[in-house]
Formats: sequence, C-alpha cells, structure tokens
Amino acid sequence: MPDSAYAEGAPAQPAFYDNLDATLTEAWNRLEAGVRERHSLFHTPNVAILGGDGTPGIRTVVLRAADRTARQVHFHTDRRSSKLPDLRAHPRIGLHAYDPDTKIQLRLACLTEIDESGHAAEHAWQNSPMMSRACYRAPVGPGMPIASPYDAAVPDPDHPDEGRENFCTVICTVLELEWLYLAAAGHRRARFAWDDGGVLVTATWLAP
Ligand SMILES: Cc1cc2nc3c(=O)[nH]c(=O)nc-3n(C[C@H](O)[C@H](O)[C@H](O)COP(=O)(O)O)c2cc1C
Repeated sequence: MPDSAYAEGAPAQPAFYDNLDATLTEAWNRLEAGVRERHSLFHTPNVAILGGDGTPGIRTVVLRAADRTARQVHFHTDRRSSKLPDLRAHPRIGLHAYDPDTKIQLRLACLTEIDESGHAAEHAWQNSPMMSRACYRAPVGPGMPIASPYDAAVPDPDHPDEGRENFCTVICTVLELEWLYLAAAGHRRARFAWDDGGVLVTATWLAP
C-alpha cells in the first residue's frame, strides 16, 4: 500500500520535501533569489525589532544581500530612524517572509551589526541607483512629526552623494532559521541553528 502522503494522483514533492540538507539549501536559494527578483515575496521580508517599551516593531524592508557562506542577509536603512537606537539596545531581530507561490515561510533569528561607513555600506551606496538614494536626502528623518507631508519632500541633489550621511547597511547574521513548507500531502517544518563559531548545531524536523 502506498503511503497516504503519496496517494495516487498526488503531485510529486520537491526534492527538499523529506530532506533536511536540501531544505536548508532551498531556504538559502529562496533568500538569494529574493535579493535578485523584485517580485519574489522574499524580496520584501518583515523585520521585527524590539522597541524601547518592549513592543516588537515590525516593518517591511528590501532584502539587499544574502550570503549563505557568511550566513548573512543585509538590508538598508536611514540612520535617523528610531530602529537604529532600538537595534543598538537589542541587536537580535526576527525576519519573516512567506511566499504563496512557493508555499514557503522562512523565519530567521539574527544578530545585527550596523555598518555606517564600512565596506558593506560603502559598496551598497555606490551600487544604489539615484532613485534609491533619494529617500536618504529627505530633510526630515523617518518617523519625525511634520506639520505637512510637503515638509519631508525630497529636494533634487546638488551632488550624487547627498544623503550618504543618512544611509547605513544592517548586516544580519543568521542564528536560527525556521522553515515551513505547506503541502496538501503534509506540511514540513524544520529548524536550523548555529553556535557562536558558526557550526550548525541543530537541524531537526518540527511538528508543523
Ligand atoms: C515594499 C517596502 C520596502 C521597504 N523597504 C525598506 C528598507 O529597505 N529599509 C527601510 O528602512 N525601510 C523600508 N521600508 C519602510 C519601512 O517599512 C518603514 O516604514 C520605515 O523603515 C520606517 O519605520 P521604522 O523607522 O519604524 O523602521 C519599506 C516599506 C515597504 C512597503
């Protein structure tokens, strides 16, 4: 008798379905594709940062880099944002994305480092198109109260590097990665965790 999860007529499962190694590889494939593909929902994950009053603040960011060897993902932000002091106080963040096309949810726990003038920030700024740089030229920092929306209007630049002083890269080193794959034949959930030395110490299926 065939396993009911593979009943006749059920769609074939992807190679990662019952394979932990392939699951972790696929998770990183999705993150790397999220950097490249603007329409992937992994391009715009949600980031949860603990605020000063203990409430996690959640916001969408653009995934700008993913490096499975370094176990890092990057996003860019404005140094004037209140998330900077929040990140300094609580450098551990949660990052979440769900893509209904692939039926994959990823939840990452990361340790962050704010790069304001180092290689990552400089490289990112140099490779940012003028349209992306514009946000950082706003005369008022994000989240500041303004009397009129026009008070935050972005002026045309006199120099292409205007706004650089407000730009930074947040480097997120993945400490834990949780995977959820939805399938009619049976969902698959897994957790991966690394120690301080970057050694994979947990790779396990979880009940979904
Ligand atoms: C599609 C999308 C992409 C965004 N990308 C970023 C980003 O890469 N970095 C960022 O700081 N904010 C980004 N934002 C804005 C944030 O969600 C948030 O509104 C902003 O960072 C200010 O909030 P905060 O200071 O509480 O984080 C994006 C919003 C949307 C809807």
